[in-house]
Amino acid sequence: MEAINPYTYVRNCWYVAGLSKEFPREQLTGHRIAGRAMVIWRAADGQVTALDDRCAHKRFPLSEGKLLPDGNLECAYHGLCYDTTGTCVRIPSQPDQPIPPQARVPRVALLEQDGLVWVWPGDPARCEERRPPRTPEIGDEAYESIDSGPMHVPANYLLLIENLLDISHFYPLHDGNIGDIENSKIPVALEEGEEDGNRFVRTVRQVSDYKQPPFLQDWFHHAIVDRHHTHCMASPAHTRVVMRNAPPGKLGTDVERGYVLMHTHTPIDEKSHIWRWIVNCPADHMSAGDPNMSAARRVASMFPKVVAEDRWALEKQQQMFDLPADGYSELFLKPDKALRRARHIFVSMLREERAGSEASSIGTAKATG
Ligand code: FES
Ligand SMILES: [Fe+2]
Repeated sequence: MEAINPYTYVRNCWYVAGLSKEFPREQLTGHRIAGRAMVIWRAADGQVTALDDRCAHKRFPLSEGKLLPDGNLECAYHGLCYDTTGTCVRIPSQPDQPIPPQARVPRVALLEQDGLVWVWPGDPARCEERRPPRTPEIGDEAYESIDSGPMHVPANYLLLIENLLDISHFYPLHDGNIGDIENSKIPVALEEGEEDGNRFVRTVRQVSDYKQPPFLQDWFHHAIVDRHHTHCMASPAHTRVVMRNAPPGKLGTDVERGYVLMHTHTPIDEKSHIWRWIVNCPADHMSAGDPNMSAARRVASMFPKVVAEDRWALEKQQQMFDLPADGYSELFLKPDKALRRARHIFVSMLREERAGSEASSIGTAKATG
């Protein structure tokens, strides 16, 4: 069987284009997601639409155009106008002729769910097979939810997923803030399964009488804790982290602290992605480091230091992919088990995608041959 490089990107997947609040009404935004250029906007009626960002006439990016009072999108170059289905409804230079049927741009499948806007850059016929993972804490009044905004990372998105699934990098990369050497020794259990059509891999780290690193004491109060910590790649688009901390024997009681930390990783191309993190803490939890600051706000103010360390590592790692292999062989350690499972999911999705596109091109050849 032909080897498949997992460090490309999966197209048949729901990816986060942004938070709902990043799409105010009647504002065009241009995106590149899994190699596909899209223009996305929220119409006056509140519905969000995504079209290919390439005018049918001369490829001009439609995201540079403007929305007209009638709701149609006018290309900024020669003025072709498109409705929200991508059909051209007006050609200013030939008003007396019928609009040719090929004057249209493909529509991109889009869903708005739990405060996020998701798009499916791949085969639209397959988009019903999966649903975006749920993110119920966003918009839930019981939680305070704070997001990073979009961060451009010059690295393949699978490198970020691998980073999130393997927290043995907390020492030395995050030593002294969220990690230490003891963290690397916590045993890891793995769970795998499928939810909403998405295969997931989850790591579970449980530890008792654990001395919390400084940032975690600052956010969640307790110095010595029982801790339950999971990282779940819920799909190639989203990793969900849940951390629960309490003094020994008190997990599940009202002194428990922690967060749900969502990471979204949306590929731009093979060598870059957009990373967003969204931290969610119970709305009434205050931090220890600043008793006047909520736990979520305190995490959001300190987490960028940790993220900068990860971004640095991902960028450096990506640069090494440009070197010739020269007999290089990757070394696998015990904590790498989860990332190997994530790669396996990527490879099987890519293989399935490739088989699907070969089958449809054979079908097309038969139909035309
Ligand atoms: S390129 Fe868009 S109208 Fe000509
Ligand atoms: Fe990290």
